[in-house]
Amino acid sequence: MPEAPPDDEPALQVEDLDVTYGRAVSALRSVSLTVPHGTVVALLGANGAGKTTLLRAVSGTLRLHRGAVTAGRIHYGTTELDGRDPVAAVRAGVVQVPEGRRVFAGLTVDENLRSGGLGLGRRRPDQVARARERVFTLFPRLAERTRQAAGLLSGGEQQMLAIGRALMAAPRLLLLDEPSLGLAPQMVHRIAEVVREINAQGTAVLLVEQNAGMALSLADTAHVLEVGEVRLSGPADELARTDAVKRLYLGETSGEGAETAQRAGTTEGQGAA
Ligand SMILES: Nc1ncnc2c1ncn2[C@@H]1O[C@H](COP(=O)(O)OP(=O)(O)O)[C@@H](O)[C@H]1O
Ligand SMILES: [Mg+2]
Repeated sequence: MPEAPPDDEPALQVEDLDVTYGRAVSALRSVSLTVPHGTVVALLGANGAGKTTLLRAVSGTLRLHRGAVTAGRIHYGTTELDGRDPVAAVRAGVVQVPEGRRVFAGLTVDENLRSGGLGLGRRRPDQVARARERVFTLFPRLAERTRQAAGLLSGGEQQMLAIGRALMAAPRLLLLDEPSLGLAPQMVHRIAEVVREINAQGTAVLLVEQNAGMALSLADTAHVLEVGEVRLSGPADELARTDAVKRLYLGETSGEGAETAQRAGTTEGQGAA
């Protein structure tokens, strides 16, 4: 397992980041945020705000989507990430769990897990065994289903497998893209517990969620993205008390206007889906 960075070193620093798709579509503008070592940072925002784009920039997968960093910097400890090199990101300890729990449906649970961390090249068998052990301790249901085709798992189990596969690379920073999307409340609760547990084991987490209640209950700090820009940042508990977050993201209706704002949020979400 790679060594953890020193405690006083920020895990991730994004500075004034601009990202563009194709030649013209600006998806992020001057976005800055920090994920301090060992913390959980939540990134909230409506559909199309740029949350996934930020994770792609950090994990080096932008180019796969015809996107590019056009300004700004991404530092991870002493490594500079450029948005175009997923292997460099994995080697630095940064691993993304993509949205939509994309597991290999035709492969078994075990084969899916073994595909995690391939970018790290040849690893010692005991390192791989330790990573597997960690996954099975977190997700006992996967341990019971190692030979089952991933496509036959429930949605929640597939999300667990997607997270488990990422953990096989022994990340120091885990990027999670909407892990709760489309899951039953009980499973959302279970995913939240797992994120807490992974973090308690020393892995920093950048958590993208539309389920603001869940994300803010887990996070140390949080940022709200709106059409490509950071609109609000602060300690998660403080953000959860601000009117804008309550109205738009926690679904609390306080007086006139709130409902309209909520409806507007929903419509925007569908438009960009
Ligand atoms: N591959 C792509 N090509 C062109 N535009 C894209 C691509 N992916 C995302 N976008 C656009 O970038 C913006 C941000 O998208 P995204 O990061 O997926 O938002 P979120 O994850 O917050 O829903 C949106 O306007 C979206 O339409
Ligand atoms: Mg997204």
